Amino acid sequence: MRGEGPRTGRVPLRRATCAALLACLLLIPGARAQSLSGKWAFSGPALMLDDGEVNKTVLELNQAGASLTGRLRGLGGSFGVSGTVNGKHFELFAPWDRESAFVVGDLVDGELHLSEWGSPLIGRPAKSDDEVPTVRYIEPPVLHTVPYNGLATTPPMGWNSWNLFQGKINDRTVREIADAMVASGMRDAGYVYVNIDDTWEGIRDARGFLQSNHKFPDMRALADYMHSRGLKLGIYSSPGPRTCAGYPGSYGHEEQDAGTFAAWGVDYLKYDWCSAGNIYSDAQLQAVYQRMGFALQSTARPMVFSLCEYGRGGVERWGSEVGGNLWRTTDDIRDEWPSMIANVERQVPAAPYAGPGHWNDPDMLEIGNGHMTDDEYRTHMSLWALVAAPLLAGNDIRNMTQATKDILLNRDVISVDQDALGKQASPRRDGDLETWVKLLSDGSVAVGVVNLGPAAKAAIVRAGDLGLAGVEKARDLWARREVTFAGGEYSASVPSHGVLLLRVSAK
Ligand code: GLA
Repeated sequence: MRGEGPRTGRVPLRRATCAALLACLLLIPGARAQSLSGKWAFSGPALMLDDGEVNKTVLELNQAGASLTGRLRGLGGSFGVSGTVNGKHFELFAPWDRESAFVVGDLVDGELHLSEWGSPLIGRPAKSDDEVPTVRYIEPPVLHTVPYNGLATTPPMGWNSWNLFQGKINDRTVREIADAMVASGMRDAGYVYVNIDDTWEGIRDARGFLQSNHKFPDMRALADYMHSRGLKLGIYSSPGPRTCAGYPGSYGHEEQDAGTFAAWGVDYLKYDWCSAGNIYSDAQLQAVYQRMGFALQSTARPMVFSLCEYGRGGVERWGSEVGGNLWRTTDDIRDEWPSMIANVERQVPAAPYAGPGHWNDPDMLEIGNGHMTDDEYRTHMSLWALVAAPLLAGNDIRNMTQATKDILLNRDVISVDQDALGKQASPRRDGDLETWVKLLSDGSVAVGVVNLGPAAKAAIVRAGDLGLAGVEKARDLWARREVTFAGGEYSASVPSHGVLLLRVSAK
């Protein structure tokens, strides 16, 4: 396996691990009931994908006294494990987190009883056919430029299921979200893509066609539902054999899956690296993404192509060459101030590569998910608009507070994000204040002053610093009122973690 690392192994293997661990645990022979050494195969309801496919995982363990070492293998890849045994109790740690065990369990009557994510699992000794299928290496294509598909002339806007719902998403919820997108005014404000993230995948039929699982009984009908409401449907897959949540990916089925998505009426594909990192190196990222880029275009159905590989391999330099309309520049966002700020700042070096048709993506919005203050969410929205980021809401649209609505539906802020020039602002730091300036197509500028500090601060915006000789008109986009530049400057107090966001036009 190549390219193994925390990012590639983490999520897929957590799920794969559970399944494999169960089966593996059952391997413990009665005669050696106190040793965990051996090969264990995991299977069982908690390790089963929807529609019955077992996410097979094999754990090989060596016990020496109280110490455990070993390797966990699944279709998503493999990683070394280590841990300890204390009486009948054991804990295993993965290489990317030495602090908290990813699995804990007990040896009970020759069985390993585990708990992962609150779900009980039972392990038995592996049988001879309990082996992870070998993944055939497929040489990626020679590099060729995929022509631009003409989509995403401004950053894509919509909603995505992952940030809030993760695996708890189904057809009914997606339809309810779609209805709420219409009723709340989100659609009319520009949020048109309704994107199903990971965990919709079922198994492949005898001819290799990927089915949706029981949570999504009829994707074609779901796409029709979206289209009848003026919305578009997005879907998710991986260039690897497994997605990040351990579901089947498009590896070896790229053209077939692109055809399936087109036949369903899908309008947008998020394509997430995940287990591809166990097969390919970062040097092969471009060719691997290019394969799906061509596959999508060969369907003749326009589909936005969203690259999700966490900014590896300088994706901003080649993302548009593979037909990408947006590419993640960072690891996953969390609904926390430090994560949100780190993600937007991490994409600063990629600024020159953003523009109409191809955007840097600091990840989906967390606005309304409850772990930041409204000031912080206003800053989140402002920064995403200033850096021309895709605006993919990640909250429960059916159930929004007025404050969340006011943030997501602020048309002035949306128009900064959606400006036709497509420039990505860059920051300038002065103590606790960080100022982002974005040139807009009508010659005006958007300027955001973010207070990164713990206390309110006075922000001063000077026309000269914005490259403007004089100010004709200025609007505070959150206060929703015109403001006056006196003597070429405007000053306002900005709360801790808040933002002053102005749109300023020159004389
Ligand atoms: C990765 C991606 C997330 C989400 C999950 C789904 O972590 O970065 O945005 O798609 O996979 O498993």
